[in-house]
Amino acid sequence: MAISEGNLDKPKIQVDNLCLWYGSFQALKSINACFRDRIITAIIGPSGCGKSTLLRVFNRMNDLVEGVRTSGKVLIEDISISDNNIDLVSLRKKVGMVFQRPNPFPLSIYENIVFGPRIHGSMNKSELDEIVEESLKSVLLWDELKSKLDNPALSLSLEQKQRLCIARLIAVKSDILLMDEPCSALDPYATARIEELMRELKNRYTIIIVTHNMQQAARISDEAGFMLLGELIEFGATENIFTRPTNKLTEDYITGRYG
Ligand SMILES: Nc1ncnc2c1ncn2[C@@H]1O[C@H](COP(=O)(O)OP(=O)(O)O)[C@@H](O)[C@H]1O
Ligand SMILES: [Mg+2]
Repeated sequence: MAISEGNLDKPKIQVDNLCLWYGSFQALKSINACFRDRIITAIIGPSGCGKSTLLRVFNRMNDLVEGVRTSGKVLIEDISISDNNIDLVSLRKKVGMVFQRPNPFPLSIYENIVFGPRIHGSMNKSELDEIVEESLKSVLLWDELKSKLDNPALSLSLEQKQRLCIARLIAVKSDILLMDEPCSALDPYATARIEELMRELKNRYTIIIVTHNMQQAARISDEAGFMLLGELIEFGATENIFTRPTNKLTEDYITGRYG
């Protein structure tokens, strides 16, 4: 692969001393972490520990919740995203997110994919056609769907819908893909296929997945962070987290003592 080592070593996202409050409740407590490009990083931890909140910091989705306050710093490619003058539309384009329940628009497959590109720039039909083909190829749906592009997206299977949601991010050229429990609505076969897709996509993207499926985190991630009650307890190579955690709390969690 023609990627320089220097490029890979530089963190894509750097989090320094990040705290977040919902009103008076502190949901994130002095988080420090680096998320690297072209690897999969998993965030694990029991329900309510702040995994989704942390993901939503990266595209400022928490701004939509009233009474949210943050302190500390989050840099994406060395740019502080908490500044008031940051362009939120470009940030959310760059940092895309998929959720537990795939949420395609009640439009055709084609219209789902061109929705974003159309908002972000005027393009002609052949440019849009090309984006649809490329995006669907990236999520390995093209052969399956190329003759059904006018079908409603809501008629797809859950797995296809989740792939379509990932394709929508690719269509607007997101390069950081946040995945919040992307497989939890899927059966084990569909889950395995989405994991396969993630492995393929990691050659081109920064992928951060939140999962409470520890086996999944162990299978697909290169680095992992364990959170508990708003704190990032341990962060490092997945292999180390799962085979020789340094913190007793991590060990207790991965061996199933709580959660
Ligand atoms: N919009 C919100 N308003 C108030 N509290 C919230 C909100 N969203 C999440 N929380 C609280 O913040 C904590 C972390 O939530 P969340 O990030 O969803 O955890 P996880 O994804 O790990 O299950 C929980 O205690 C949750 O109740
Ligand atoms: Mg969550």
